[in-house]
Amino acid sequence: MRRRLGILLSGRGSNFIAIADAIAGGRLKAEIAVVLSNRPEAPGLALARERGIPAFAVSGPNRDQLIIDHLQKHEVDLVCLAGYMRMLSAPVIAHFRNRIVNIHPSLLPAFPGLDSQHQALEHGVKFAGCTVHFVDEGLDSGPIIRQAVVPVFADDSDASLSARILKEEHRIYSEAIAVVLSGQFRIVGRTVVEA
Ligand code: GRF
Repeated sequence: MRRRLGILLSGRGSNFIAIADAIAGGRLKAEIAVVLSNRPEAPGLALARERGIPAFAVSGPNRDQLIIDHLQKHEVDLVCLAGYMRMLSAPVIAHFRNRIVNIHPSLLPAFPGLDSQHQALEHGVKFAGCTVHFVDEGLDSGPIIRQAVVPVFADDSDASLSARILKEEHRIYSEAIAVVLSGQFRIVGRTVVEA
C-alpha cells in the first residue's frame, strides 16, 4: 500500500506541488492524504483542492489538536512541513516522533528561523543551500536527512538567492521523503545513517 503523507503549509505551496509532481511522475511512491494550513487564504490550500486532495484550514486555540485529529483521520504515515510557519507544540511532535520532516532554506545549523536567505547574504557566506530534517522540539534543530548546496554570487539579492535555493528544495525534499518512507535508515545521536 502507498504510504500516506500529510502536508502542512502556510503559503504558496511550491514544495507541496513539487512533492505532488514527484508522486505523479513516479519518482516518489506515496500519496498525499491531506493538506492542512494555519492560514485559510494560503494559495497552497487552493492548489490542493484543485488537485482533488482533501485540504483544511486549522486555526484557533485548538489548532494543534485539530492537526492531530486530521492526520489521524486521514491515516497519515509521515507529516511533511512545507513552508509551515508555526512551531508545532510538544504533543504533536511526541505523537508523531520521527515522523515529521521539514524543509528549511539554509544549510543548518546556520541561519535557523525566519528570512534565512537574507541572513545568509548579510553574513557574507559564499555558499548557501537547504536542509531536510526531522522535526524535534527545537527551532529547525532535528537530525538532518538531506542537504543541497548552492553558490552565492556577489550580485545576489534575497530574491535571486531564494530562487536558486528553492530549485534545490524542490529536488531534495522528495528524495528525503523517499529515504524516510523506505525505513532504510537509523538515527544515531544526531546523525541520520542511511542503510
Ligand atoms: C521554502 O523556502 C521553505 O524552505 C520554507 O518556506 C518556503 C516555503 O515555500 N520553509 P513554498 O510555500 O513551499 O513555496
